[in-house]
Amino acid sequence: MSRNPIVPYILIFALGIGLIFFMSLYGLDQKKEIAGQGEDAVTEEAESSAEFDAEAVAQGKCIGCHGGDLSGGMGPGLVGTSLSKEEIKDTIKNGKNAMPPQGITDDAELDAMADYILSLK
Ligand code: HEC
Repeated sequence: MSRNPIVPYILIFALGIGLIFFMSLYGLDQKKEIAGQGEDAVTEEAESSAEFDAEAVAQGKCIGCHGGDLSGGMGPGLVGTSLSKEEIKDTIKNGKNAMPPQGITDDAELDAMADYILSLK
């Protein structure tokens, strides 16, 4: 009885499927971590707007597009921006082209976010 020549192909196929399965599990795990970060920022935001933590909110909402230190990613770098405070507040509140509105509408919070971005060196 000769060995079926198709067996090695089936083995490689099974290996590939296994790898894809493993990678998607790994991805799910990372997704949970990222979602968890977002929740932290939102809870902090909800606690009290007097203690609004602009840095935590930026870590939760902005770094996905603007990079870990907000120096640029898919969105432009915000460090050392030449925009005015009003322009920054407007961008966060209403969005701008590919950037969606960020769900921050409270003027004091927008103020704090803009101050935080302007403080980045
Ligand atoms: C979904 C991705 C995304 C998220 C999330 C996001 N941004 Fe943006 N942002 C962009 C893109 C893309 C632009 C460029 C828009 C344009 O000028 O066409 C931009 C532009 C900006 C600008 C104007 C920069 C410039 O030089 O013109 C500011 C300020 C800004 N974002 C702040 C924020 C802040 C603060 C947050 C978090 C609260 C945030 N963004 C979250 C994608 C994003």
